Amino acid sequence: MKPYKLSPTQGTIPVNKIVGREKDIQKLEKMLESQSVVIEEIRRMGKTLFLQKYGFQAKENQHVLYFTLQGVISVNELIDILITELRSEQSYKGIKIAWDKIFKIYNSIKPDIDVADITFRLPEFERKWKDVLGACLQDIAHRKKKEKETLVIILDELPIMIWNWIVNGKAEQAKEFLDVLRKHRQLLESTGSVRFVICGSIGMQVVLKRLKDEHSYTGEPFNDAARYNIGAMPTEEAYFLCECLFLDDFIIDSEDNKKELLKNICDYAENLPFYINRIFSIVRNKYDDVITIDNIKESYNLLLNDPQESKVLKQLEDRITTYYHKDEANCMKAILSFISQREKKTSQKKILKEIDFKENIVKECLHTLLSENYLIRELNGTKKQFSFKYQIVKKWWNINMA
Ligand SMILES: Nc1ncnc2c1ncn2[C@@H]1O[C@H](COP(=O)(O)OP(=O)(O)OP(=O)(O)O)[C@@H](O)[C@H]1O
Ligand SMILES: [Mg+2]
Repeated sequence: MKPYKLSPTQGTIPVNKIVGREKDIQKLEKMLESQSVVIEEIRRMGKTLFLQKYGFQAKENQHVLYFTLQGVISVNELIDILITELRSEQSYKGIKIAWDKIFKIYNSIKPDIDVADITFRLPEFERKWKDVLGACLQDIAHRKKKEKETLVIILDELPIMIWNWIVNGKAEQAKEFLDVLRKHRQLLESTGSVRFVICGSIGMQVVLKRLKDEHSYTGEPFNDAARYNIGAMPTEEAYFLCECLFLDDFIIDSEDNKKELLKNICDYAENLPFYINRIFSIVRNKYDDVITIDNIKESYNLLLNDPQESKVLKQLEDRITTYYHKDEANCMKAILSFISQREKKTSQKKILKEIDFKENIVKECLHTLLSENYLIRELNGTKKQFSFKYQIVKKWWNINMA
């Protein structure tokens, strides 16, 4: 494929211009044939664009609906969003839902309403949401479908939505919602060939832990789903992204150096598309579009050093404070500071020795940092060794926190 012009952005790009992720799409498609999938990664790794691209070019037998749930404040609002989308899909793309069960519930309170006018945000329905959600999911399961058709429902930022419900006094609703979803998912997955993709930049386990610790919830609503991680792009895709961005009127001294310079950007950015975009943006703003080895290096340093430019990395610290209790948060930060100062991988034994918290807390925090994608763990024989998953995070932490 020939590179096309893209402007550096921290926002969204037209879906037909999203670069790469071809392998990830194939793998996701394959996994969804047999189960639902949970995708969790730290912020700005390209989850949303990847899922949008998958939705755009999914195989014919996978019919994809994408929802972003950040800011959805109640189940009733969520149900309305679901129904609105299904209605419009029904008109344009041929999902065939009869709405039998939904109609029955709706008509029992508000008779003679057309499907186009249904809304569950009315006060009459506030307490009925469990029945309504159940009915809606059953109607989806019993839709008329082509042979082998799978309906894939992507719920982007579901964990954040649930988290916000919890902190806004709606923990009970959150628990019940997760249980109702879990209960109906079985029917949906088997009879209805429906799969879910749950995606979030905070992990579902953060939410479940809070519900467990403070609201005695023991459910495991997604323990039957597979996990998928996306992270860096393959080098060819990262390079291709650089070529596309370069077409947006960037300047180099000689065409002969282009390959080396773009490769250099990929290396600094660790093939992460967000940081590739950031380096191009900084070169644009600070160095008048001129790409040189020195300008790339200085732009990268600004990403690590400059409070404005490194806001996204700072969020990695903030979110620990937000989502964990003080003791845990302090222990997690101490671990990260310690590891960030070490050149090589750090053994668990060394961490337990150096970090001044009880052993069981340190172990639990290490586990959390793994599942939250800050750290990775390798085994050397039976020896466990930890290191940062991304070098850019390590460097930022070392400079600003350690
Ligand atoms: N496939 C891609 N092609 C081009 N740019 C990309 C791609 N993926 C990510 N990016 C860049 O990274 C940025 C973040 O991507 P995206 O919003 O998909 O990440 P995210 O993981 O969903 O982030 P968040 O956790 O904040 O929701 C985009 O604005 C874009 O600059
Ligand atoms: Mg996103």
